[in-house]
Amino acid sequence: MRKLLTILGLGFALPVLADNLPLPSGTPASYKSECGSCHLPYPPALLAADHWRRIMSQLGDHFGSDATLDARQLQEIRTFLENAAGRPERLGSAGDPPRISQTQRFIRKHREVPARFWSDPRVKSAANCEACHRGAATGNFGEHDIAIRELRR
Ligand code: HEC
Ligand code: HEC
Repeated sequence: MRKLLTILGLGFALPVLADNLPLPSGTPASYKSECGSCHLPYPPALLAADHWRRIMSQLGDHFGSDATLDARQLQEIRTFLENAAGRPERLGSAGDPPRISQTQRFIRKHREVPARFWSDPRVKSAANCEACHRGAATGNFGEHDIAIRELRR
């Protein structure tokens, strides 16, 4: 972990802070209410437009859940996600169905997180960002706001 933090300490050269991902100011309220009811309303930049398109076309069977929307909200959220999506060349492949937690970028960023944290009953799933990132709800995924210390107990 110290090595990881050292590497991240050199991140000052990055044009944007990779760890600060608040929802964009134009986020429709429906995104937070509909796509934030079962889990975090994920930062749209963590999947590419094509990934979001695939997710939004399969909401009837959404990871085993029914997440269908009415036509107006479907259109509104899909447009928002595609416009705010991340660059595909930065994210890499995302699996099928696409998952943030399966993108090559996510895997690279989490490479040094020990396996026992992923399997901890308080974490359960890599999709459960806020189990580790205490500031996830406000878009803070920075190294100083990780609950690993708590998880170690
Ligand atoms: C009825 C509950 C429910 C609703 C509503 C819902 N989801 Fe999900 N979503 C899930 C479940 C369950 C998973 C799988 C979680 C896991 O693997 O632990 C999931 C996973 C995801 C993932 C993949 C997370 C990862 O592993 O990276 C994305 C992206 C996602 N949802 C986007 C959305 C979007 C966009 C909407 C709104 C259109 C939405 N979800 C609405 C239940 C829901
Ligand atoms: C098991 C704990 C755990 C879970 C669950 C988890 N993360 Fe992380 N994440 C970490 C750790 C530890 C780091 C490394 C510390 C760092 O990079 O700041 C990290 C790093 C990151 C970074 C890089 C931050 C940077 O400075 O570049 C992002 C972005 C991120 N996580 C997003 C997410 C998202 C989104 C989810 C849910 C889909 C998630 N994480 C789930 C533990 C976790």
